[in-house]
Amino acid sequence: MVNLAVLISGNGSNLQAILDAVADGDLPGVKVALVVSNRKDAYGIQRAFKHGVPVVYFPKLPYTNAGRPRADYDADLARIVQSFDVDWVIQAGWMHIFTNAFIRVFPNRILNLHPALPGMFPGAHAIADAFAAYQRGAIEHTGVMVHLVPDEAVDAGPVVAQEAVPILPDDTLETLEARIHAVEHRLLVSAIKTVLHIENLRNS
Ligand code: GRF
Repeated sequence: MVNLAVLISGNGSNLQAILDAVADGDLPGVKVALVVSNRKDAYGIQRAFKHGVPVVYFPKLPYTNAGRPRADYDADLARIVQSFDVDWVIQAGWMHIFTNAFIRVFPNRILNLHPALPGMFPGAHAIADAFAAYQRGAIEHTGVMVHLVPDEAVDAGPVVAQEAVPILPDDTLETLEARIHAVEHRLLVSAIKTVLHIENLRNS
């Protein structure tokens, strides 16, 4: 059984896509062993509960208030994730940039979903940034990617899967977001299948 930890900060629609794929037998041999949220009000927590998946709520504020560095938070979270015997860490709408204190514990075992094409719009506002770039005529489409997180670079690791997403003249930010999220849900499951397939080939 391959154990996933899915890290979320909000709605959790990408977590839901993984939970549904597991439930539908579309990710055989895979289990969501843990969901971590750094936001207490993240709706994704409810999604995990409905599927009987253990949830850890792990906010950074106590570390900040205690004047403790981000690396302490990351190292402590890595130990918690390890305690669930996790093989792969999936950052699905996870609004926190890990230092090596976390990354080194899961070398080449972290996937990040980002709603932009490689090298285009890093950071937390990728969809809005793409929409603005389209409106000023700088781009004609945007996209989604899933990449490995080998180091502290933001939204910039080796790409496992990517897909272009068209922007239409009558799009609003909301219609573009909906089109992007629909691609994310499919691409994230596909990327997980890809890395597990590569791992099986390596181990065979
Ligand atoms: C997604 O667009 C994700 O790529 C971005 O934040 C959004 C969260 O989606 N980081 P959800 O929480 O999975 O619904």
